[in-house]
Amino acid sequence: MEKEKLSAEIRRLAKDRKALILAHNYQPPEIQDIADLVGDSLELSLKAAQTEAEVIVFCGVLFMAETAHIVSPEKIVLFPAPQACCAMASMITPEDVRALREAHPGAPVVTYVNSYAEVKAESDICCTSANVVRVIATLPEKEIICLPDMNLAQYAQRFFPDKKIIYFEGFCPFHHLLTPEEVKRAKEAHPEALFIAHPECRPEVIDLADHVASTSGMLKFCRESEHREFIIGTEVGLLYPLRKQNPDKKFYPASENMVCEAMKLTTLELVYQALEKMEPRVEVPEDIRKRALRAVKRMLEIPRG
Ligand code: 13P
Ligand code: SF4
Repeated sequence: MEKEKLSAEIRRLAKDRKALILAHNYQPPEIQDIADLVGDSLELSLKAAQTEAEVIVFCGVLFMAETAHIVSPEKIVLFPAPQACCAMASMITPEDVRALREAHPGAPVVTYVNSYAEVKAESDICCTSANVVRVIATLPEKEIICLPDMNLAQYAQRFFPDKKIIYFEGFCPFHHLLTPEEVKRAKEAHPEALFIAHPECRPEVIDLADHVASTSGMLKFCRESEHREFIIGTEVGLLYPLRKQNPDKKFYPASENMVCEAMKLTTLELVYQALEKMEPRVEVPEDIRKRALRAVKRMLEIPRG
């Protein structure tokens, strides 16, 4: 089926099934175009928790679909690309979390949503790249464990000189790949451009940034900025909504190599088939879901900044 026809069929089926299509900002353009909401991890989790739809179709990676089921267990969560797994989420196990707790008794565990349900189940509270600072600010303890992303944890540390943020050595391979040399070269090539970085980038890259934000935070910043040119330090998928929302501005990737393959596995055909067959589904086992829910809910209850 050609693209336009398939997109129209998906929208028709979604209506029939009372389904809500959620897509992350890194998803392929044609997937973003058929979604009801395109957003960052926080926006998508909030929408999954609040929607009255009976079915959620999650176009993203597995931890995001799991989070949708954790907050909305009464809904069917369809996950069209079941092989789409976040490389960072796979770096940490529940045993790693328990070992860190044992090594740092009394320190609360703040877990980045880019983690699997069984890791969230071992945690006190979750965070995303959009709210990590607000989440840590709610914790009175001086020692905090923040996992699995060492770059996000070190970014958060900058805001809390009186706290010690203990981190696990996980990372996003695509953000961690970006070097300060590449950023400097991009700045030389585009001297008028601002450099915007995702907090998953390494500290030496964050040092060079004019602004640091989640993917939706980047979209907001670029929409509202008077500047005309931006170097984007995140996965290249974000260039599509940036250019769509700002046709008069220029966006350059900090590196062409920042491509998360897992985020590109969703296709229109797979979304169509998922809605037609009502599978594959994501369901988190109830005992893990209940424990993970405490940490996710505690995060969602923090007012948005
Ligand atoms: P955001 O929550 O900023 O969209 O980030 C998700 C992600 O996977 C970044 O690599
Ligand atoms: Fe995971 Fe990195 Fe892909 Fe985000 S970009 S989903 S952190 S592997």
